Amino acid sequence: MAKNTKAKPAAGERSTSSVSMLLLALLCMAGLVMGVYLIANGGQGKQSNYHNINIEVGQSRTLVTSFSGDFTCSISDSKLLTIDDAHLMTALAPGNVVVIAEGTAGDRETFYVTITGDVQPDLTSTSETTTTTTTTTIETTTTTVSLAPGSVTGIELTFYAVSLKVGEKKMPIVTMSPANAIDKTEKWESSDENVATVNWLGDITAVGAGVCTVRVTSVNNPAVYAEVTVTVLGETTTAPPTPSADLEIIDGVAYVQGILIANKTYGLPKSFDPGVNPEAKAAFDRMQVAASAEMMSLSIVSGYRSYATQEATYKRFVNRDGVEKADTYSARPGHSEHQTGLAFDINYAGDSFSNTPEAAWLAENCWKYGFIIRYPKDKSHITGYKYEPWHIRYLGEETAKKVYESGLTLEEYLGITSKYAE
Ligand code: DAL
Ligand code: ZN
Repeated sequence: MAKNTKAKPAAGERSTSSVSMLLLALLCMAGLVMGVYLIANGGQGKQSNYHNINIEVGQSRTLVTSFSGDFTCSISDSKLLTIDDAHLMTALAPGNVVVIAEGTAGDRETFYVTITGDVQPDLTSTSETTTTTTTTTIETTTTTVSLAPGSVTGIELTFYAVSLKVGEKKMPIVTMSPANAIDKTEKWESSDENVATVNWLGDITAVGAGVCTVRVTSVNNPAVYAEVTVTVLGETTTAPPTPSADLEIIDGVAYVQGILIANKTYGLPKSFDPGVNPEAKAAFDRMQVAASAEMMSLSIVSGYRSYATQEATYKRFVNRDGVEKADTYSARPGHSEHQTGLAFDINYAGDSFSNTPEAAWLAENCWKYGFIIRYPKDKSHITGYKYEPWHIRYLGEETAKKVYESGLTLEEYLGITSKYAE
């Protein structure tokens, strides 16, 4: 095994190695959604092309339109699929999503996205009793009482969920129906003005980290409203590194005593995408064989995660639990050890894993193969994360043995912190 020296860095150290009935039904449904959309928009738009996209949960793909220039996207269910400003789609959960891309010149294309696969393990990582719902975020409500002729009966928005950084603004376009409604006056409100404010035009401004709901209601018919879920991410900054002669920053990546560090203090650049570290994977394979000889079954349920994947993962948790809680179990983008390719989640990323024989075996033996349990019990004030008996980090055999024998966390062993700068 490579020594933990700068001259010959080991992996983990400074290293550069680093479905047609169903389909028919779906098409009909999507066609209906599109029809409603077109009616709501007065049938405007230069063209409408239709595409099918298949994607697996956890995968990311860039949305490409056949027309040129920039475009905005509307998503029917952002709990299943997210799209960032660079048009990178990330599949979060299985289901069907309609995405409408609209260019600045009015060109329009519709994408029917089929997401297959299982809910990602991390979705259940905080609690066994937590369930993930995949309900639509479209909250449009239509009244059933008799209405005066010309009343508003529906509201459509160009988006129903948005993630913003503090200070950023975004305004959904509102379409009230029927098109000939007499009074289309809107009333805008935010559920939490500490998170985001909204003016009378519907211009949403991100104020502070958190999640809130911005609602637009028809003044003519207050039973008709639509909502946007606004997620505001606080600026993730990196705390000043602990002054240490042992600290080196190479291409934006921190190494302490030659060991690559990714924690709340030390972030990784967005461009750092080494993939799974082959040495770490080979060590896992050896460990898996050894464990199976003792009737233990080990498998990797989450390995390398790109910055973009972690960003989508973290945002999903913030939407579900809020920033404060999410920070106890999920790393902000650029701060996950999974982005190093040196960390693996074993068997099941959830609390019940701790009661399995495999968890005990891993805690006792993983160091022999160069791994440590990275977020031990009762050490969250040091590591910054709750107990994760399933998350192992590859350090190389020599260093892993030393850290294991010290009984310390990696932070303690190296004399470093793990805290986001406020
Ligand atoms: N669950 C660990 C802390 C991560 O998100 O990388
Ligand atoms: Zn993990």
